[in-house]
Amino acid sequence: MLRFLTLETTCDETAAAVVTDELVVLGAVVASQDELHQQFGGVVPEIASRAHVERILPVIHQTLEQADVALQDLAAVAVANRPGLSGSLLVGLMAAKTLALAYELPLIAVDHLQAHIYACRIASGRNIFPCVGLIVSGGHSNLYRCQSPLDFTPIGGTIDDAAGEAFDKVASMLGLPYPGGPAIEQVAKQGDSERFKLPRPLVSDPSRLEFSFSGLKTAVRYELFGPGRVPMGAKAELKPQLVADMAASFQEAVVECLVTKSVAALQKVKADRLCVGGGVAANGRFREAMENTSQEYGFELLIPPLNLCTDNAVMGAIAIERYHAGLFESLDLDIKAGLVR
Ligand code: KG4
Ligand code: ZN
Repeated sequence: MLRFLTLETTCDETAAAVVTDELVVLGAVVASQDELHQQFGGVVPEIASRAHVERILPVIHQTLEQADVALQDLAAVAVANRPGLSGSLLVGLMAAKTLALAYELPLIAVDHLQAHIYACRIASGRNIFPCVGLIVSGGHSNLYRCQSPLDFTPIGGTIDDAAGEAFDKVASMLGLPYPGGPAIEQVAKQGDSERFKLPRPLVSDPSRLEFSFSGLKTAVRYELFGPGRVPMGAKAELKPQLVADMAASFQEAVVECLVTKSVAALQKVKADRLCVGGGVAANGRFREAMENTSQEYGFELLIPPLNLCTDNAVMGAIAIERYHAGLFESLDLDIKAGLVR
């Protein structure tokens, strides 16, 4: 049995996992930084990277202890080196390189977005390829054509904000805490999703596999504060019912965009399986709408359980596919903060 250590520090979660070559999770730890960023309504890169520095060693230590594995017993060490926040990525990368050097372990690079899709492979316990992959996270909203664990082609994505980012910004406008997605989902349960007629950007053009959430965010802002320029950080006196109705209306608009473009992507590449990953996939209304759509259109839908939707290191087990293909990195491995196309 081969055992792999995977590290994940792309954004604001410090995570490590030990996974076997049969995809059995022996240990997994996620240290969230939500409370550090809460007061700012979003992730502050400088704070995130400093927190990773403090947490990475305890997190690795705890993971190995949970897995009852010593560093010298590992087959390889893997690290998500793209895409993400530079300062955050560097902490994971340096930790992985140090372990690789000190324990003479092969070093494997993980694409964080591909790993989000691979979470479906781990959760389902069966082959998921070929499929269309949809990533809906705080930093990304992307569609991929996934032919194999080593062959991902981007086929669409956001032209401005990511879905999760829009959730976070709208939550902040509504006076809800960070992260905004779970907060919006919670209050939306008491809301009327038809009260506000918000736009569904690009939905009417199925030839474009693109999302745009910036205009939707602005539409919410105008509904709350009136049209025109609104000072940054402006807070209106919002009645709880209005907050609930806006949360529900906004959530519905985002979900409709995601569902419509996923169907368009499946039809375009003639795939019949959709694998979803990223924090927004934890949203109950999103899951329900996707489930209904998969039945209506007859495609297979895979969405991992919540702990594998949000950032974690278990999904970094996609590295095992690279291990078997002999795809190793030298100690010159660098980070790639932006999207790699
Ligand atoms: O994948 P993730 O954990 O981190 C990134 O790689 O960005 O995604 C975090 C994002 C945040 O924007 C958060 O608001 C959103 O996922 N999110 C949700 C929910 N839970 C987390 N959005 C909508 N509904 C949720 N229940
Ligand atoms: Zn992520």
